[in-house]
Amino acid sequence: MRDDGDGSASREDADDRRARDGGAGMSFAQRVECALRALANPVFFALRSRLRFRRAGYRETRETPLTDPVAIATLQRFGLTDLTERMRASTLATTLHVVDLLDAVFERHAPPTATPLRVLDVGSKNFEVAPALLASLAAHRGRRDAIELTGIELDAYRVYADGHSRADAAAYFLALAAEVGLGRSHRFIAGDVLEHRERYDVITWFHPFVTPAPLLRWGLPRRHLAPERMLEHIASLRAPGGLLVIVNQEPEEAAIQRALFARVGLEATSFEVPSRFPRRHATCPVHVVQKGTAPASS
Ligand SMILES: C[S@@+](CC[C@H](N)C(=O)[O-])C[C@H]1O[C@@H](n2cnc3c(N)ncnc32)[C@H](O)[C@@H]1O
Repeated sequence: MRDDGDGSASREDADDRRARDGGAGMSFAQRVECALRALANPVFFALRSRLRFRRAGYRETRETPLTDPVAIATLQRFGLTDLTERMRASTLATTLHVVDLLDAVFERHAPPTATPLRVLDVGSKNFEVAPALLASLAAHRGRRDAIELTGIELDAYRVYADGHSRADAAAYFLALAAEVGLGRSHRFIAGDVLEHRERYDVITWFHPFVTPAPLLRWGLPRRHLAPERMLEHIASLRAPGGLLVIVNQEPEEAAIQRALFARVGLEATSFEVPSRFPRRHATCPVHVVQKGTAPASS
């Protein structure tokens, strides 16, 4: 799971890997680091949540020309070519990864035909996935309008090294989506999904926290680790016939995720999607809670 919030994405990835299973396999130093984060995170999280820092002018540009013909063709197919120069290479890589992944998911599980289609993305970070999410849904609906996308992020005011917060970046990505004709009826909510009560036709949830160490590394207080309660609640936000799509980072997390489905009594279809634009692994574990499956009570 990539986060450029403090400019240490690759270190975070490597540490996350070592920190699976709530600490099994972690070195002594990593355990100490987690313990310190457990003490510090509540203080810094409370500070930035109270400060709600925003700064105008967030923008991205591409550092090097895009030459990969498969990437270029994919952006063309989804009507995203105009974003090529307006995203950093790493953001465009995420966009390609997500659009390709969701295309395969919606091929197997068609999104509902509701108009407008109400869509929720949970734990959106800086909402960089917004254009890709909208474009993949638009491709499957055969129209680029009539989608209302909401992103919700608990830690929306985490500040990047460049002095912009995730909320600033989210506004930028929603503006980009609007510019490529993917609509303007979208919003980014700074808040806790557990306190959110609206209903949605499609819910995406990329990389939920299922163990403590990654959550601590992402700067959240330990009390926000509630994978079972989150799953039950998020499933309950589906409108009748709604679709919940969960993507895990890797097989270990997918196994924990499947156990969570069993614990809350939700029937999910789990499968691996091979990625043409892989981020960490060649395939991604995906779970879809099928249309018509009764949500667990929240
Ligand atoms: C592992 S990160 C994944 C971020 C993003 N979806 C991605 O794939 O890059 C999990 C995200 O969920 C957010 N989160 C955790 N608990 C949440 C909650 N209760 N409500 C909203 N967001 C939450 C975290 O702050 C974090 O940004």
